[in-house]
Amino acid sequence: MPEKTATKTFSLEKLLKKRPLVLAPMSAVSDLPFRILCRQQGAGLCFTEMINAEAIARNNKSSLRLAQSCPTDSPLGLQLFGAKIDSMEKAAKTLIASEQFDFFDLNMGCPDEKVLRQGAGAALLRREKRACGLVKALKGAGKQVSVKIRLNPNVLNSIRACRALERAGAECITVHGRTVKQKYSGKVDFVSIKRIAKAVSIPVIANGNISSRRDVETTLEKTGAAAVMVGRGAIGNPGLFAELQGRKGVKPIEAMFKYIELFEEFGSGRFGRKKTQAIRFLAKARERQVVELVQKAGTEQELEQALAGLR
Ligand SMILES: Cc1cc2nc3c(=O)[nH]c(=O)nc-3n(C[C@H](O)[C@H](O)[C@H](O)COP(=O)(O)O)c2cc1C
Repeated sequence: MPEKTATKTFSLEKLLKKRPLVLAPMSAVSDLPFRILCRQQGAGLCFTEMINAEAIARNNKSSLRLAQSCPTDSPLGLQLFGAKIDSMEKAAKTLIASEQFDFFDLNMGCPDEKVLRQGAGAALLRREKRACGLVKALKGAGKQVSVKIRLNPNVLNSIRACRALERAGAECITVHGRTVKQKYSGKVDFVSIKRIAKAVSIPVIANGNISSRRDVETTLEKTGAAAVMVGRGAIGNPGLFAELQGRKGVKPIEAMFKYIELFEEFGSGRFGRKKTQAIRFLAKARERQVVELVQKAGTEQELEQALAGLR
């Protein structure tokens, strides 16, 4: 069988060399309108938020909407979480039909109890064989595959797992330089990321606590990674991507209004999501009073009224 064109021409390695700033997959944050804003500000690669493979396999509409994309939303990694091989295969086949993304990403880092109980997310760090099986299941659909992990307390286990994932066909590994126990706090372990990057021959993206140009330089220098992934720093503030490249970024309030326009244009979800995202931009802009008004808004009209003074 000839390979799909997308698989042949798309190279994650080349892409990361040219564009080393990556937007993290973030639940209820990294949706299509937000990704478009981050790309306009200089993000070279974006990921969708994590999407439940089981739900996609069942053709669940709201999960399918999380995979929403458009031609300018490229290059894009579509992140799935799950633990069952057959559901992963089915989800991959369903999604591949859309041709609206460039590669799959397997979530192996989510510390959420509900996800762990399914044996998915960070639980896969202890289920190496299953994780490799899931990578193969995704590859079987004809796209490239990356994985996103957290560190194991013993880095030798992380190294062994990453080598196995590479052998299973993963083309890139994002390492969030914290353990599951650390959740989102504590130091990022640059030394362990470096050891992983040295141990594999595929590109490694370093992730954790990037909020300035200095952070980008330090992280790349100390880890030897090909690129850095930005998470919380970009929430409510896509302009960070411009700042990380020495340019002035879009201000959070301006970004919020653009977000709302794009949200309407693409029909990206329900009112609740729009409101939550608006609050994130407002929080970044320290508009506390408006945040309170928006929190109380129960209709589109009330939201519009709450934001009117900022226009
Ligand atoms: C609100 C939120 C949602 C997240 N959702 C996901 C997700 O869907 N998939 C994933 O792999 N990681 C997720 N993460 C983790 C981030 O991708 C990233 O690994 C983590 O925030 C560390 O990067 P940072 O220090 O730059 O924030 C999420 C983090 C936050 C704060």
